Amino acid sequence: MGLVDGKVAIVTGVASGIGRASALAFAREGAKVVAADVMVEGGEETVKMIKDAGGEATFVKCDVSKEDDVKALVQVALDTYGKLDCAHNNAGIVGPNGTMTVDYAKADFDKLMSINCTGVFLCMKHEIPAMLTGAGGAIVNTASASGLVATPGNIAYSASKFAVNGMTKTAAAEFGSQGIRVNSICPGFIETPMVAAYLATEEGRAAVCALAPLNRWGQPEEMAEVAVWLASDRASFITAVNMPAEGGMTAV
Ligand SMILES: NC(=O)c1ccc[n+]([C@@H]2O[C@H](COP(=O)([O-])OP(=O)(O)OC[C@H]3O[C@@H](n4cnc5c(N)ncnc54)[C@H](O)[C@@H]3O)[C@@H](O)[C@H]2O)c1
Repeated sequence: MGLVDGKVAIVTGVASGIGRASALAFAREGAKVVAADVMVEGGEETVKMIKDAGGEATFVKCDVSKEDDVKALVQVALDTYGKLDCAHNNAGIVGPNGTMTVDYAKADFDKLMSINCTGVFLCMKHEIPAMLTGAGGAIVNTASASGLVATPGNIAYSASKFAVNGMTKTAAAEFGSQGIRVNSICPGFIETPMVAAYLATEEGRAAVCALAPLNRWGQPEEMAEVAVWLASDRASFITAVNMPAEGGMTAV
């Protein structure tokens, strides 16, 4: 029996990285997955990987910053699988890393917030009513260690991830009594295309390792494990938690 056997789960940002690993893990643990991304090719590839492994999944092209897209995404879950139990709101971008606050363009700030912050808000706004028509539900938002401590050189990313952690607690407080749990995961440096610039050189790779007690990069699959567990009934008394998954980076 899988951790999320018989459940229906939305995962966003599935075309690569943490979202792909999460979609695969939800499916492996028994969920029917509604897999969303703006990138069609990568998203469809993830769904093929799930199906090839014997799982069930549907790809939906969705820009999480657009309310109509998010509404349609939730509707696909209801129309295709009849309910919505879990969601991993994970889609995000990193923006112009290494840009000091005084040089940060407003357009870059607005774009990043529209995806990382507004996107998570819109997902929860439309997922929660769908979950309330069923047996309740569990939401996991991908925040970041950047939602726990300062991120010099990327004020918008920092703002968006602190916002995700705050929205997680607020939604958890609003809907806990109605059977909805809402938690976030706060990854440290995880080997995905998002952080390709750090991965490109030996110095970059080593500098990241030195930041955390575990002294290594995290893997997308390790984030997927946390997301699926938090979304599962095994975590039934856990809500409003911003869970670090960063090799201890924020403790030192
Ligand atoms: N990789 C890390 O080190 C790290 C650390 C902390 C937090 N995170 C967070 O993890 C999440 C996943 O990132 P990742 O590292 O897997 O990166 P990634 O670039 O591999 O994956 C991000 C996915 O989100 C999708 N996406 C971007 N904008 C979108 C939009 N508007 N609508 C729908 N999908 C969209 C992309 O197409 C991509 O498939 C992000 O929220 C990121 O901020 C990553």
